[in-house]
Amino acid sequence: MVNQVEIGVIGGSGFYSLLDDAEEHELTTPYGPPSDVITVGTIGSRRVAFIPRHGRDHRFPPHRIPYRANMWALRSLGVRQIIAPSAVGSLRAEYGPGVLVIPDQLVDRTSGRVQTYYDAGGAVHVPFADPYCPTGRAVAAATASAAGWDTVDEGTLVVIEGPRFSTRAESRWFSDNGWTIVGMTGHPEAVLARELALCYTSLSLVTDHDAGVEAGEGVTQEEVFAFFAANINRMRSLVAEVVEALPSTRSCPCVHALDGIKLPFPLP
Ligand code: ADE
Repeated sequence: MVNQVEIGVIGGSGFYSLLDDAEEHELTTPYGPPSDVITVGTIGSRRVAFIPRHGRDHRFPPHRIPYRANMWALRSLGVRQIIAPSAVGSLRAEYGPGVLVIPDQLVDRTSGRVQTYYDAGGAVHVPFADPYCPTGRAVAAATASAAGWDTVDEGTLVVIEGPRFSTRAESRWFSDNGWTIVGMTGHPEAVLARELALCYTSLSLVTDHDAGVEAGEGVTQEEVFAFFAANINRMRSLVAEVVEALPSTRSCPCVHALDGIKLPFPLP
């Protein structure tokens, strides 16, 4: 039953095999269609909706992903907690490929991406001081550590517009600011989740050292894709374990993100 779905996973195409009894939902939203068909299925006792962020054939580069449609579609299926695995570059020499960072902060260096549902019909200002769900983060960090991951349970993710990688100067500037990892898709996903009062937890897998912390030629797409692909089975198992460990009742601040705010339209 679709209305039992409560957890969403936004990930790469390798995640389909996580789901038992999978059924596909072709949805559309006021923001157009999501990245692809959404697959709903079961992991353990939990009903989960899975969406491939870039589309099954990886047709959407990071700056073209239909972020609003994706989050809206997940919520319309009943999703309230989102787990978001992604590949990131490291801005610290000590965090090499294979380290799993569960960020607690985000810096938006994107440009030109629509990052709100509320651009007409009145002001809606959601709190975003702490962009990630504290419960989801704690569950993810404990689960990953218990599963043997080299886990870092805090850190700042800087999200760049892409699709190019950063220059060495940009990357050094990010590191000098004390930021931890760099990626291309974590925003506006996180803020759109908050605007829909959803819990959002990033599982950021370091695939490379970014240009500023690397002595060599800088990062390549080949390196990132190959590392992520080589670790997809481990990530898949981790996502399944995190999904099963999430609470069935939410008691985090994310639930209250829209309290006292008059919305210009009902949420799905
Ligand atoms: N995704 C994986 N590695 C990255 C990097 N170095 N910069 C931006 N996005 C990334």
